Amino acid sequence: MKFGWFDDQNREYVITRPDTPLPWINYLGNEAYFGIISNTAGGYSFYKDARLRRLTRYRYNNAPLDSGGRYIYLRDDRSENQCFWSPTWQPTRNKLDAYECRHGMGYTTIKSSYAGIESSSRYFVPLGEALEIWELTLTNTRQETAELSVFSAVEFCLWDALDDATNFQRNYSIGEVEVVDEVIYHKSEYRERRNHFAYFACSEPLHGFDTQRDDFLGPYRGWDSPLAVERGATNQSIAMGWQPIGVQHVKVTLEPGESKKVLFLLGYQENDEKKKFDPPSSQTINKENVKPVIAHYLKQQTVDDAFLALRHYWDELLGKFQVSTPDSHTNRMVNIWNAYQVMTTFNFSRSTSYFESGVGRGMGFRDSNQDLLGFMHLIPERARERILDLAATQLPTGGAYHQYQPLTKRGNNDIGSNFNDDPLWLVLSVSAYLKETGDWKILESLVPFDNQPGSEQPLYVHLQRSIQYTLDRLGPHGLPLIGRADWNDCLNLNCFSDQPGQSFQITTNKDGKVAESVFIAGLFVLACKEMEEIAKRFGHEDEAATIRESRLTMEDRTNQAGWDGEWFLRAYDSFGEPVGSKDCKEAQIFIEPQGMCVMAGIGIENGNAQKALDSVEKRLACERGIVILNPAFTQYHLHIGEISSYPPGYKENGSIFCHTNPWVMIAETKIGRGDKAHDYYLRINPSVLEDESEIHRTEPYVHAQMISGPEAVKPGEAKNSWLTGTAAWNYVAITQHILGISPTFEGLQISPVFPKEWKGFTALRTFRGTQYSITVERIGPGNQVELILDGNLIPGNVIPLPPAGVKNVNVTAKVN
Ligand code: BGC
Ligand code: NOJ
Repeated sequence: MKFGWFDDQNREYVITRPDTPLPWINYLGNEAYFGIISNTAGGYSFYKDARLRRLTRYRYNNAPLDSGGRYIYLRDDRSENQCFWSPTWQPTRNKLDAYECRHGMGYTTIKSSYAGIESSSRYFVPLGEALEIWELTLTNTRQETAELSVFSAVEFCLWDALDDATNFQRNYSIGEVEVVDEVIYHKSEYRERRNHFAYFACSEPLHGFDTQRDDFLGPYRGWDSPLAVERGATNQSIAMGWQPIGVQHVKVTLEPGESKKVLFLLGYQENDEKKKFDPPSSQTINKENVKPVIAHYLKQQTVDDAFLALRHYWDELLGKFQVSTPDSHTNRMVNIWNAYQVMTTFNFSRSTSYFESGVGRGMGFRDSNQDLLGFMHLIPERARERILDLAATQLPTGGAYHQYQPLTKRGNNDIGSNFNDDPLWLVLSVSAYLKETGDWKILESLVPFDNQPGSEQPLYVHLQRSIQYTLDRLGPHGLPLIGRADWNDCLNLNCFSDQPGQSFQITTNKDGKVAESVFIAGLFVLACKEMEEIAKRFGHEDEAATIRESRLTMEDRTNQAGWDGEWFLRAYDSFGEPVGSKDCKEAQIFIEPQGMCVMAGIGIENGNAQKALDSVEKRLACERGIVILNPAFTQYHLHIGEISSYPPGYKENGSIFCHTNPWVMIAETKIGRGDKAHDYYLRINPSVLEDESEIHRTEPYVHAQMISGPEAVKPGEAKNSWLTGTAAWNYVAITQHILGISPTFEGLQISPVFPKEWKGFTALRTFRGTQYSITVERIGPGNQVELILDGNLIPGNVIPLPPAGVKNVNVTAKVN
């Protein structure tokens, strides 16, 4: 069953009823000011960091779902038909006569009609600004004049979202606002340690306002029935402590057929520490910088221009890679939604979504490095900056802080380090950056370790230490020690946790000298291949040769100690026993080493790769994707960790953990099986799964971290949508491996491994400033490529970089 449809022309998903199985969200903002917004206007806003600079409150895990948002109430003020409703459905949930939500690239528009009043609310963040615009359009379709009251409502958060949700003994006394020139300013803690405030402004004269929640709602009432809305009058309350809110009351009279726009601005502003107050001796916010911004954005023309600029920005970004294949699901995801999700994971890592509260996790080191893999071509300059930020959280040992806080960019001490896969992902992201841009200078950039001034070394040294980190931590079989966990955070072989609340990841009670990861072995081989190429080209031939030796040794060990007969083992536990082996009672085969080892090229020559992938098909693949392991653990194993704490079929214990699926797709292309690769691609494709939205539950336009597996009580349910490494990896799998258009150090490579029944496809790809028009024609069933460049056959499958100044290149690839 569907709850909407894809409007590909407009790059929008159109939701046609408000009661989606879960709130279906979108993101607002591009660089610093962000928000999440649901299809019924729920969600919240923040500046840079969802935990430390939260502007508005949100109630997670609440009933009814999705409480807290950017709310508007409309009230019919004519005494004969007095009533009120929410034109975005929440929070009053009146049955609307019509409803439509359009989630687009960086904006959301919710339209509805009720009792003859049509409304459209468009929400977006203008490029480069720290504010959001709500553009409300009201139309009277009645035969008579309508007299309406419009109420806007936000609930301010006292900045630190975690403290805000827990520390009531203090927080009930610190909320402060100012209302000046009809603008509501939220300034809790501004008197002392903060130099930032929020503001809420409106384009129309205010009939009234409220800033204290209880006064607006009335005691024991909820957002669904505010007393002030019910009776049509606010209280002009000034918050001191308790729960500061922003409510504006505007009166609108509409003749039959008449439309009117009302603009609301919610924004964030910082002041110079020395110029916080005006007059300086007072406690009043100095508004000299913010006033012009407010005046500018309350003009309709400014808003129209800003919206067009946003549309244009996304046209350009998405225009960097467009394909036209025989499959509409592939086209839609590659051209629009997968790229959009890649941008989202780049912006937020795993920090803020409907499932990530924004208070828990900052930016993950392994996560962000992987997110970059799909992002490089979109905005290479921002990728560069992110790489340097990440590298600056690396420790002198080569290890890395597992997470960092986006506002401070400092490593998070609560989690610390010792996730032994972490540093290797940096090699992959830097290599992808170099291939995309050719910007070798980045390797010379001086980057500190652990952000310590004085510890700066060229980025290249960071990469060397990443590789060395693994070599310094090898176990009894010569395979990499796993540490706290590898990519699978829940495979905790050194944490024997038997107390509730103990962290599975950071309570490490084994010495860690025995448990080894075959997955890291595969990742190490892959990273070494990239590092060899980088070293060679960066003038370190000898080093390239040494790395090659280490790599070959690791490949060997993986084929020996890491091989179970029909597939790659997952690990050795801290007693030296194999994990993910046919000899195990549960979890005999895991997906991760099959995907990673084959991607790294291990076992391609000796046939292990094909065996491993055949085993994946036989033992792990199901209708909705490939499960992470099989059979799922049915009980908790102290020496295996969190993975066995989940019921069978969920999360890391036997769900379709989508992030891993593209690894298998890529692996399939490595052994030339394009049909299988694309078949796996379609199984987890959100657009394909749209048909069963009532089962899938999360948004049909983005990937979710997991879909419950066949062993689950309810198979097919997705969770943790949006912020998942699936976005970037899936994008890489389809664009670079199945469609085969991939940047290399020498130029753009065309080596598709795609379905046999496709006659071909076309693509437009911007690469290092040149636009490539690519036509792929299938002339036989194989994967051999002949490249024809401007009418001439050229050797190999890499298009050499054109002379400077060439803006367009046409190339045809005949595949046989
Ligand atoms: C989740 C993992 C996550 C880990 C660390 C676990 O509970 O299942 O997916 O990576 O926590 O936050
Ligand atoms: C989510 C985490 O963010 C990611 O780092 C990890 O690799 C996966 N879960 C698998 O456990």
